[in-house]
Parts: sequence; structure tokens; C-alpha cells
Amino acid sequence: MLLTSKANTSSPGPEPVPSELLAYVQETYAPETEALRLLTAAAERAGMPAGWEITPDVGRLFQVLCRSVGARRVLEFGTLAGHSAWWLATALPADGQVVSIEIDSDWAAAARAALAEVGVGAKVDVRVGAVREILEPLEREVVAEQRLYDAIFLDADKAYYPELLEWAVRVLRPGGLLLADNVLRSGSWNGQALLDPGADDPRILAIRRFNRLLAEHPHFTATIIPIRAGIAVGIYRP
Ligand SMILES: C[S@@+](CC[C@H](N)C(=O)[O-])C[C@H]1O[C@@H](n2cnc3c(N)ncnc32)[C@H](O)[C@@H]1O
Repeated sequence: MLLTSKANTSSPGPEPVPSELLAYVQETYAPETEALRLLTAAAERAGMPAGWEITPDVGRLFQVLCRSVGARRVLEFGTLAGHSAWWLATALPADGQVVSIEIDSDWAAAARAALAEVGVGAKVDVRVGAVREILEPLEREVVAEQRLYDAIFLDADKAYYPELLEWAVRVLRPGGLLLADNVLRSGSWNGQALLDPGADDPRILAIRRFNRLLAEHPHFTATIIPIRAGIAVGIYRP
């Protein structure tokens, strides 16, 4: 039974989830898998920075969200070693596909090999490209194939988030899902936090702009799920 008192209901105060409960969530709903361990080993071999990949609790969240919109085709910006691509691919039906964009050709090659090793090579199309240069060809392809994306995940250079949000509506199907990582990120960008009044790091300014644009966008119903570095989630309703 839940016990409440006047004192603690009238002034609840901030209630961050303690780390042991976060660990409990992850252990219960998203335990580390052999596939994730192999991807992490591949990342280390390729000299990728540690800890850039989404964590299993976030991966599980993406699976739930992708399945809730019946996603079959997902576009991702920022492959790294393929952790998020693996979570997304394993949420899709057998004929589903993840198109994942990576600027670094060596990392893209390492991710391709690692994703094949963990059994989702056929479901993930890792493409080398920079966000800016790849938008036009991606859009041309969508028009030519008349196949919109069911979900888009932003996790490459944060400075492009506002631009990618504006672009996403051209390739996302009605009822599709927009996901973006790091939208509450603090501390790692020149030591500046999202809400620092004096922040001038372009990534922080871009994320603030992205959050404002998404929150006020007439065609998205969106919010931020405040886990890890903050995940923006929007449903596109044109
Ligand atoms: C945070 S990591 C992605 C992590 C991955 N989504 C995961 O969770 O496993 C960001 C990736 O985006 C790539 N990247 C950075 N800037 C980019 C750009 N302008 N275009 C495409 N990829 C970019 C980086 O090389 C890096 O691999």
C-alpha cells in the first residue's frame, strides 16, 4: 500500500531516479546481450570513443516506440559501431530495414562487419555520408521509391538537429516517429550545460533551438523522456 502524508504530497521536491533503480530497470527490461558485447568489442577494436552509444534502457525504449507505430523502415543519423542500429533492427519485422548514416568510412566499415557478425547485417544498410550532403539523395530516393520512413533517429552532429527536424517531415510518414538523443545533455560540451545562460557552444544552442522547434511544431506531438542524456520523442501528424 502506498503511504502518503500531507507533508510529502504538498511538497514533493525533485525526485531523480536513484542509480540503483536505473540499474534495476536496465537489468529487468534490457539486460546486456551477447550481440551488444560483440558490438562493444568491435567499437574498441576500431578505436571508437567509449560510451557514445545508446545504453540498453534507451535501446529498449526505442524498440517499444518503434513497435508502437508499426515501424518497418527506420532512418538513423550516426552509426558508430551499430548499437542503436541493432536495437532498431531487432524491433522491426523480418523484412524491415534500418538505413544508418555515418560520416567516418572506417567506422562505417567496422559497423557493417560487426552488425553482420551479430546477425542483422541484412537488415541494416550502413551508408557513408555527412548529414549535410546526404539529405538530398535520401529524399530523392524516398520520392523515387515512394516509400516514406516510419521512424527517424537523430544521433550525429547535434549542430544539425534543427535542420534535420525541418527536413524530417519531407521523408517521414504520417504517424511516424522522430527520436533524438542528447536533448538534455549537460557537461561534455566545453563544460557547458543546456541551461547555462552564458552558453555559447553551437551544439547547445542548436539543441535549445531544436527543443523549442519540436515543442512548438504544429505537426508534431512531442516531449522529452528525461532518461540518460534526454530523448526527444515526437509523433508526426501533418
Ligand atoms: C553518438 S555517435 C552515434 C551512436 C550510435 N547512434 C549508437 O547509439 O550506437 C555519433 C556518430 O555520428 C557520426 N557523425 C558525426 N557527425 C556526423 C555527420 N555530420 N554526418 C554523419 N555522421 C556524423 C560520428 O562519426 C559518430 O559515429
